[in-house]
Amino acid sequence: MTKYKRIGVLTSGGDAPGMNAAVRAVVRAGLYNKMQVSGIRHGYDGLIKGDYFDMRSKDVSNIIHRGGTIIKSARSKDFMEKEGRYKAYRKLIEAGIEALIVIGGDGTFTGARIFGNEFDFPVIGIPGTIDNDLYGTDMTIGYDTALNTVIEAVDKIRDTASSHGRLFFVEVMGRDVGFIALRAGIASGAEAVFIPETETKLDNFKHYLFNGENKEKSSNICIVAEGDEAGGAFDIAGEVKKRLPGYDIKVTILGHIQRGGNPSAFDRYLASKLGIASVEALLEDQRNIMVGLKRREVDYVPFSKTIKHHKTPNQTMIDMLDILNY
Ligand code: F6P
Repeated sequence: MTKYKRIGVLTSGGDAPGMNAAVRAVVRAGLYNKMQVSGIRHGYDGLIKGDYFDMRSKDVSNIIHRGGTIIKSARSKDFMEKEGRYKAYRKLIEAGIEALIVIGGDGTFTGARIFGNEFDFPVIGIPGTIDNDLYGTDMTIGYDTALNTVIEAVDKIRDTASSHGRLFFVEVMGRDVGFIALRAGIASGAEAVFIPETETKLDNFKHYLFNGENKEKSSNICIVAEGDEAGGAFDIAGEVKKRLPGYDIKVTILGHIQRGGNPSAFDRYLASKLGIASVEALLEDQRNIMVGLKRREVDYVPFSKTIKHHKTPNQTMIDMLDILNY
């Protein structure tokens, strides 16, 4: 057992619903294990500036249900430089912080891994990103909530698409992976889903618009992952319009609403479980690892693995769409 007197916690990169639940769990588990916990504002930028404050139990009351992150987040260019990381290290030592828990995605873990190795400093990662692109965990914090946001929006769009017989292309986030698009496509009954992991072929697009009895569908919704190799929703809609000039085609870009909202029950639970696990990993003298969820159990995944491997949707999920659209 390794005892730390004081640990730090920060959120970094694109925020995700459930990050507050994770911060809450880290603070409560740290205090439970007789540690002090410093909140670090604005991610790695705050780490470098020494923007730290002592967090007590009451500082994380009434936040489990709130989206965003009360300790703010940022994408830090300075932390990508050794000079910036050295400043951060000095500030941590001055503040008596002996270990760090970082909540974020692959960019966050990339910086954490370099920092942890450079300064022999214990760092534990919690997967917090709506993209669900981190290898080594079945789900990332924020993904479930983002999916629910997307299907709620698509259900609304389907009402008007059906009323006017329109063909809609809805663009979702996910950076360069298609998890949000594919899973939300299945859950919302989308007629077609375009993701970076599969080749987008538009010449036989028309077959998506008919069902098994070859009857035209009453409404048609296509979900486009923002990182699709054929471009975003406007690009793909333009190409389809060339091939099907008779169709009334509309585009909706969901954008940053996918990053907000009250976290789902699953994300609150996942964040709480992994927040506690991150503190327990420190007590077990773990460092430079992510605490992930594998088949409902906590798993320790070295940063080197979770960053290097890219998680992609499996063929079963991709095949489901064809079957369900027959
Ligand atoms: O990584 C989360 C994410 O929402 C991606 O899905 C998206 O491409 C990106 O962040 C947007 O970044 P920003 O909020 O900096 O525009």
